[in-house]
Amino acid sequence: MAPSSFKLNTGAPIPAVGLGTWQSKPGEVAEAVKIALQNGYKHIDAAWIYGNQAEVGEGIRQSGVNRKDIFVTSKLWCTQHRDPLAAVDECLKELGIDYLDLYLIHWPVPLAANGNDPKFPKRPDGSRDIDEEWTIAKTWEGMEKVLASGKARAIGVSNFSQAFLEDLLKTAKTVPAANQIELHPYLPQHDLVKYLQDKGILPQAYSPLGSTDSPLLKDPKIVKIAEAHSVGSGNVLISYQVARGVVVLPKSVTEKRIIDNFKVIDLTADELSVLNDLHKETTKRFVKPEWGIDLKFDNWET
Ligand SMILES: NC(=O)c1ccc[n+]([C@@H]2O[C@H](COP(=O)([O-])OP(=O)(O)OC[C@H]3O[C@@H](n4cnc5c(N)ncnc54)[C@H](OP(=O)(O)O)[C@@H]3O)[C@@H](O)[C@H]2O)c1
Repeated sequence: MAPSSFKLNTGAPIPAVGLGTWQSKPGEVAEAVKIALQNGYKHIDAAWIYGNQAEVGEGIRQSGVNRKDIFVTSKLWCTQHRDPLAAVDECLKELGIDYLDLYLIHWPVPLAANGNDPKFPKRPDGSRDIDEEWTIAKTWEGMEKVLASGKARAIGVSNFSQAFLEDLLKTAKTVPAANQIELHPYLPQHDLVKYLQDKGILPQAYSPLGSTDSPLLKDPKIVKIAEAHSVGSGNVLISYQVARGVVVLPKSVTEKRIIDNFKVIDLTADELSVLNDLHKETTKRFVKPEWGIDLKFDNWET
């Protein structure tokens, strides 16, 4: 039987399936969160940069589900690396809650806090305004202060390659509880997932369906497995991550899909092996912002 939750290195349980909220528009995300929580989800993945946290909070309240029964994640944006304590306060205020279950560094890319844009500051030549004076080690110290403050019960990272994590672990007092990365059969990142699991860092799969207009949903091998179980391709992609011990964060604002996506099925060893190997035919990364620095991921350019 597929597990319904995993454990963080803090000892806290984390529900295996969470609702993603990126690109969920104002006017639709509160309803999506409400529908999810009223249909079994107990885990919401949010971020300051998504610009919709106030509505996510509204959805949590409208659901009638107790705050303490929901696992809420948010993320420190790139322009906030110098002051995670102030940034977490802003998240809590937007969401209307008084602690996060997990707070992640969204990208290992510090951007100028006082540049020409609060979210994506650029230099006059059009390149990203990277905060060259700052280090990720110092960002992590700030995250550790957030943990000590109780405003987040666990802290972690997102979009960290093994090389970036190895660097972080040289000075970190707290081992990150999670690393949220792009994971699906066209980008399974087997080596990175194994490294994380060996270190007690829980991998989380973002864009598990392949994000918007995904070719994964129509891949004949995935469709064949879905048909064998009389479910949709989405269920196969979501269940695949749970089967490999990975938290999975499908996004939808469509009622039927939100409800369908929560159904995790048991895949056979042969089906898992097909899904594990699919990247040998097609390798594809859907989320690859042009930061102008090398994040040291394999297959960044695919
Ligand atoms: N840490 C990071 O840097 C990072 C980056 C990307 C994503 N994330 C997180 O991960 C979450 C998921 O990633 P994502 O939003 O990129 O993409 P995703 O969950 O892989 O795919 C979402 C897309 O698939 C559609 N969809 C959902 N369920 C479906 C189903 N059963 N059948 C067919 N289509 C379906 C959705 O449409 P509708 O909504 O119209 O139904 C939407 O267009 C995000 O929302 C966010 O919380 C984090």
